Amino acid sequence: MKKRVMLTYGTFDMFHIGHLELLRRIKEMGDELIIGVSTDEFNQIKGKKTIIPYEQRAAIVEAIKYVDRVIPEERWEQKREDIKRYGVTHFVMGDDWSGKFDDLGDICEVVYLPRTKGISSTELKETLKSLSAINLNELNHAIEILKRIKDNLE
Ligand code: CTP
Repeated sequence: MKKRVMLTYGTFDMFHIGHLELLRRIKEMGDELIIGVSTDEFNQIKGKKTIIPYEQRAAIVEAIKYVDRVIPEERWEQKREDIKRYGVTHFVMGDDWSGKFDDLGDICEVVYLPRTKGISSTELKETLKSLSAINLNELNHAIEILKRIKDNLE
């Protein structure tokens, strides 16, 4: 039977269980898994701000046991070239991209998998932001108490 070569792209910032589940499910469907990790420059073009730099995001994805090869994603138009270069048989994305890459269906199979519910890099960043806000409130509260103590001493 023909080797099934799977390809997906993503930013994979603050690697989380939704990412892991996607990679696990894609590898289960095929023999080889190639991941295009978006570079910092490409994320800027996409208007996406990352916390973790490209080299670290790529190293983390490369260390996942389901992943056979990591390539940089630098441009929107590279998908067709990558599919031909690496002999990709299946192009797979999470269903937040449903229908967006159907045009690649002339050279390989295009599959959209359901996202894992309740987690995303954006939500993790929002949680970090609200935690910093809570810390700031606590800090301001402590400063107020110290001020009062100081005023009483004078
Ligand atoms: N993904 C998923 N389940 C999640 C989050 C992401 O299956 N809960 C998939 C996406 O559909 C995509 C891949 O993981 O195919 C990489 O997604 P990426 O955009 O890097 O992750 P998100 O957590 O969705 O990041 P953001 O919130 O910045 O969009």
